[in-house]
Amino acid sequence: MKMNSEITRKKYNRNSKLYNLLELPVELFLYRKWRKSLFSGIDTDRFLEVGVGTGKNIKYYPNKSVAVGIDLSEGMLSKAKKIKIKRKILLQADVQKLPFDDSSFDRVVATFVFCSVPDPVVGFKEIKRILKPGGKLMLVEHVLPENKLLAKLFNLLNYITVKQGGVFINRRTADNIRKAGFEIVKEKNLLSTVFKQFVAQPV
Ligand SMILES: C[S@@+](CC[C@H](N)C(=O)[O-])C[C@H]1O[C@@H](n2cnc3c(N)ncnc32)[C@H](O)[C@@H]1O
Repeated sequence: MKMNSEITRKKYNRNSKLYNLLELPVELFLYRKWRKSLFSGIDTDRFLEVGVGTGKNIKYYPNKSVAVGIDLSEGMLSKAKKIKIKRKILLQADVQKLPFDDSSFDRVVATFVFCSVPDPVVGFKEIKRILKPGGKLMLVEHVLPENKLLAKLFNLLNYITVKQGGVFINRRTADNIRKAGFEIVKEKNLLSTVFKQFVAQPV
């Protein structure tokens, strides 16, 4: 199934109104602890968050860092912009065509984003371009499970999730990261083989 940024943007604009409410159960039971752990690993003065969404990670941003956040959807971003913290810049942009110079950031972070980016390999290549030498890409993502039966189910349900929300639940994210020219230095299962944390470095 193919998707493009314009359709994804419109789907997230529409879903932005109920997004926080619908995500509340998973947020409370799973996501918040993974967000906290991911952002505790940011050890730089300035970082980029891709796919900020409604700003659920903002409260976990390290105090001293300047954060630049981008998202495709102005509906999602408008919610994030209501969260008042210092040293935060939010922009509407597509990760597949980032408005930054080469080698601009030490760290790029994203949570649950590359399931929705129309061409994730192009997005990862753009991140590689704007990362400084020695920079790191840090992610929490849901991916196609390794269990064959479960993978079949995800492939079937994928038609519905893409149509409803522009979300691909059958992405092979580790392969996509490597295809874009990264080496995965950490791949940790957070829940079964569906939710994973990745840390990757450009090769
Ligand atoms: C499932 S939401 C996750 C939002 C947030 N990161 C979180 O953890 O709650 C995916 C987000 O990725 C954004 N997104 C999808 N495709 C994108 C792209 N090509 N460039 C930038 N953001 C994108 C969507 O607009 C949406 O806000």
